[in-house]
Amino acid sequence: MGERRSSQWYAGTDRNAYIHRAWMRRGLPAHAFDGRPHIAIANTASDLNPCNAHLDEVAESVKQGVYEAGGIPLNLPVVSLGETQVRPTAMLWRNMAAMATEEMLRANPIDGVVLLGGCDKTIPALLMAAASVDLPAVVIPGGPMLTGTFRGAALGCGTDVWRLSEEVRAGTLSERDFLTSESSMIRSRGHCNTMGTASTMAVVAEALGTTIPGLAGTPAPDSRLLEAAHDTGRLAVELVEQGRRPSTILTRGSFLNAIVALAAVGGSTNAVVHLLAIAGRLGIELTLDDFDRTGAGVPLLVDLQPAGRFLMDDLYRAGGLLAVLREVRDLLDPAALTVTGKPLVDYLDDARIWDPEVIRVRAEPLQAHAGIAVLYGNLAPTGAVIKPAAASPHLLQHRGRAMVFDSIEDLRARIDDPDLDADADSVLVLRGCGPRGYPGMPEVANLPLPTKLLQQGIRDMVRVCDGRMSGTAYGTVVLHVTPEAAAGGPLGLVRTGDYITLDVEGRRLDLDISDDELSRRVPAEATVAAYAAPTRGWERLYVNTVRQADTGADLDFLVGSSGDQVSRESH
Ligand code: FES
Repeated sequence: MGERRSSQWYAGTDRNAYIHRAWMRRGLPAHAFDGRPHIAIANTASDLNPCNAHLDEVAESVKQGVYEAGGIPLNLPVVSLGETQVRPTAMLWRNMAAMATEEMLRANPIDGVVLLGGCDKTIPALLMAAASVDLPAVVIPGGPMLTGTFRGAALGCGTDVWRLSEEVRAGTLSERDFLTSESSMIRSRGHCNTMGTASTMAVVAEALGTTIPGLAGTPAPDSRLLEAAHDTGRLAVELVEQGRRPSTILTRGSFLNAIVALAAVGGSTNAVVHLLAIAGRLGIELTLDDFDRTGAGVPLLVDLQPAGRFLMDDLYRAGGLLAVLREVRDLLDPAALTVTGKPLVDYLDDARIWDPEVIRVRAEPLQAHAGIAVLYGNLAPTGAVIKPAAASPHLLQHRGRAMVFDSIEDLRARIDDPDLDADADSVLVLRGCGPRGYPGMPEVANLPLPTKLLQQGIRDMVRVCDGRMSGTAYGTVVLHVTPEAAAGGPLGLVRTGDYITLDVEGRRLDLDISDDELSRRVPAEATVAAYAAPTRGWERLYVNTVRQADTGADLDFLVGSSGDQVSRESH
């Protein structure tokens, strides 16, 4: 017997070792328990998470690789979150999925883990769990779907749903045509094909060093995904042999590399809360300001929806993330390692751009300064974010009259009203959508524009919200406002008719009233009544312990790590 963690269960001749082995036999031979690495496959495959439904097949390839390298693969189904299905928002359950996965990794006789994720919250939850257990771990992103077409034009899933539904509201597309496009939206297995949150988190996982380099963005139906899954299974055994754990791979440098990658690909703002939460599990100092300091000056090099034109299979064809990172090599930490044991930058030498329309060279960026801007001001004392690449340039400096909605229900009830007191210069405010208020911080910040303005041809307005925005969405949206209204933030004090100034270049978001008046105001009854007040279960635990978006919206007692040891036997 070796000194594996799993040997703490299986080694020896006592009754408990007998029990642990005997119940696991079921086809496993005696030598399965001779000290060889036992590798869990944390598998988010689920019929109710359609973006991840193909991961069982990926898991089979991982198993072959683990066996080939002398390990024992073990499928471990974990909580899965289908972004489009789960109510009230998948984000409410990210921390639950992370906690459940963390506990199951720790509780079971395993030495390492392969993390199979895809749809938005799954990779963040898996990485948070792996960071807190700190067992050798490697990610396989499930990959984007192939691009569907409708009437000869490519459809970006998510992004084109928003666009087409706004066209219906504006009266420029019939409802019949809109519904006809439905069966074209999702062409194949895999996650959304835009640079939404799932694609972004795959890119981020690779930039952090937690995948085999070059893997992120491999389309889900592409046979190269299964080949990489096989290789990843082999690598997982090596990780255990080498004792290469998340804490040895993930450093502040790797997080800064991820921020550079996030900016260069025009990634989702959701990566901000996820990266802060993962870093929090590892005790790595990472703040909202790091996203602005490190990311804001990075050029936007990838022409993908929602910021641009192309889709994920185009990015893969054009050279993938490594070709992008080669262009910004000087901005990367050369010491940051990957799961292979080699630095990320070592993989850039052979990377090439095969289609300069999709991946721009550094000298010809889509935007010179991409990344995420962090705003402060009396409306966001601890910060808010905006993605300038997805915004309208003429609105990045704007002053307008607030039109306030206390909840998503309030918005839906009034947004189609022809008498709504709003014009193209108005600033739409939606509150009660933060981690506590909703609860769970849903993706509603890209609130729909008033119907009467859509009919006048208006396609973007400044919007301000304490919630998140889908990574597939676009617009001049200030989101993740902290503290959220339900936590006593000044967003809860804004009244319709107040003036709000957005100054992205100056990094400001201000309510144009005096400090005196702001300090005298109290939230209206209707505002407070809209906040969540759960009385039991997960929602109650969540609302009572969730932190604000500026630190990752993790639960306060989940921040940090507990390691992999369990002190007591089960029998
Ligand atoms: Fe699953 Fe978009 S809904 S990735």
